[in-house]
Amino acid sequence: MLEKILFPTDFSEYSVKAKNELLKLKKCNVKEIILLNVLDVRTFTYFTMMEVIEIQNFEQEGEIVKGIQKSLDEWKAELTREGFNVKTVVREGIPFNEILNYAEEEKVTSIILGHKGVGAVERMLLGSTAEKVMRKANVPVILIR
Ligand SMILES: Nc1ncnc2c1ncn2[C@@H]1O[C@H](COP(=O)(O)OP(=O)(O)OP(=O)(O)O)[C@@H](O)[C@H]1O
Ligand SMILES: [Mg+2]
Repeated sequence: MLEKILFPTDFSEYSVKAKNELLKLKKCNVKEIILLNVLDVRTFTYFTMMEVIEIQNFEQEGEIVKGIQKSLDEWKAELTREGFNVKTVVREGIPFNEILNYAEEEKVTSIILGHKGVGAVERMLLGSTAEKVMRKANVPVILIR
């Protein structure tokens, strides 16, 4: 179950918690961890609506992706130091969709994620990405609280 773990992160405090739990799986025969961040197109649409000149959007998106890649590399370095074999991936789309698609395409054996994320609202018990991934995934989902 833990051979090929998909770890989608939005870099929220809840994702950090999930990473810290992941670090404890050192002796559990984990062969690969995939760190995935999905650039949420719903947010990006909002950006594009704000911008007048289209070319700026591409530049802006490029900058955002660079920032994401940098953060992913930092997380990768931390996990690699602990002896894990880590790959990083950036995708564009709606987070839960991309997470589920990636899990199918790459035949991961489990998914680990935080129970909330950057959009966390106090009254909410579970974020919508976490909920949809749990409901629809075909592999075990480990939700970190
Ligand atoms: N864009 C994303 N890319 C990768 N992983 C994500 C992304 N968004 C959320 N996740 C993962 O899902 C977990 C739960 O986040 P979720 O989005 O469900 O909560 P939320 O942001 O509080 O709620 P909502 O998005 O519904 O406002 C995060 O801790 C993270 O592990
Ligand atoms: Mg979210």
